[in-house]
Amino acid sequence: MDKKTIIVTGGAGFIGSNFVYYMLKKYPSYRIVCLDALTYAGNLSTLEKAMKNENFRFVKADIRDAEAIDNLFTEEKPDIVVNFAAESHVDRSIADPQIFLATNIMGPKVLMDACLNHGVKRYHQVSTDEVYGDLPLDRPDLFFTENTNLHTSSPYSASKASADLLTMAYHRTYKLPVSISRCSNNYGPYHFPEKLIPLMIINALHDKPLPVYGDGLNVRDWLYVEDHCKAIDMIIHGDCVGEVYNVGGHNEMANIDIVKLILKELGKPESLITFVEDRKGHDRRYAIDPTKIKTQLGWEPETKFENGIVKTIKWYLDHKDWWEEIISGEYQNYYKKMYEGK
Ligand code: NAD
Ligand code: DAU
Repeated sequence: MDKKTIIVTGGAGFIGSNFVYYMLKKYPSYRIVCLDALTYAGNLSTLEKAMKNENFRFVKADIRDAEAIDNLFTEEKPDIVVNFAAESHVDRSIADPQIFLATNIMGPKVLMDACLNHGVKRYHQVSTDEVYGDLPLDRPDLFFTENTNLHTSSPYSASKASADLLTMAYHRTYKLPVSISRCSNNYGPYHFPEKLIPLMIINALHDKPLPVYGDGLNVRDWLYVEDHCKAIDMIIHGDCVGEVYNVGGHNEMANIDIVKLILKELGKPESLITFVEDRKGHDRRYAIDPTKIKTQLGWEPETKFENGIVKTIKWYLDHKDWWEEIISGEYQNYYKKMYEGK
């Protein structure tokens, strides 16, 4: 196996950290450099085990800081850059879009300029199915393909779609070798407690109300995080320059069913469920058509939801230290602001 250096931005967050561990295990000869600004969503404790690996390096930096990025690229001479770094929570983007535009649009611009200056062989932009907007509940025959129009609902998804357009513009105009993946909702270890699945697990463990937005019938298409990592691995190693790939495992579920499943697994009563005010502009249904990545790259998801969710709940039970530290800090203020009076 040849040696490669991969810069993983946002590697102290949920999917980025899972990707760091996936790559260190699969490619023992690779150098994995994680660059992360350690915002509220980034946790160094998540990378504790990776720090012991001599092929791993952590660098605290902001993807918008052109000088820091250029210095790092000079030092490391990366072959590949995978950009996970982003502001990722839809509710926060509705409360205040500013940082979403700065990080999610200007960040990729700075990274791609550095890729051009340093002759990086692949820039991979981690995007989302949210760039396609939503689908109606009464048309289960409809799915997002790579040709579906971009049609965004939230400031978060608008910022991610902007980054996708910019990425393709750098490819066409400057011939930067890029690829893009648009994945559905991930779940698994190290998922930040503000997101649906960890929030519901943690509230249930504390016998606190489980706040379900609107009627709870909104549908998300859930994929175990390792299957997303595997897809990105295949794309960055494949002949995929200039290509966009949808990633999803045909696992659509209504929010209320997920919440009930979590309560059942934890032996907690459904009376904990509280229907609260809906999210503004709340997307109704996401559903990915993964035909392209399956036929072109042979990608298949490995973890079935019924196993993945049990594994995930067990992970939260076994790693209380990790999330207790998070929810004891600044997160308390966030929770109060978002849910008080709802
Ligand atoms: P996350 O919020 O858990 O992690 C984001 C990470 O980026 C954090 O470690 C944070 O510190 C870092 N970061 C934020 N701003 C930065 C900056 N300016 N410079 C450097 N680092 C910065 O997010 P996630 O859920 O792991 O999502 C990762 C990526 O995948 C995002 O681009 C997101 O849009 C995309 N995505 C997420 C999902 C999902 O279900 N979570 C699905 C599809 C796509
Ligand atoms: O589809 C991919 C996207 O999935 C990613 O691009 C985003 O980064 C990621 O955060 C996620 O976005 P969602 O908005 O789908 O995830 P979230 O966990 O915030 O919400 C999932 C669903 O659950 C959504 O319909 C809103 C609902 N919800 C969420 C929270 C936090 C509730 O009903 N109650 C809650 O308290």
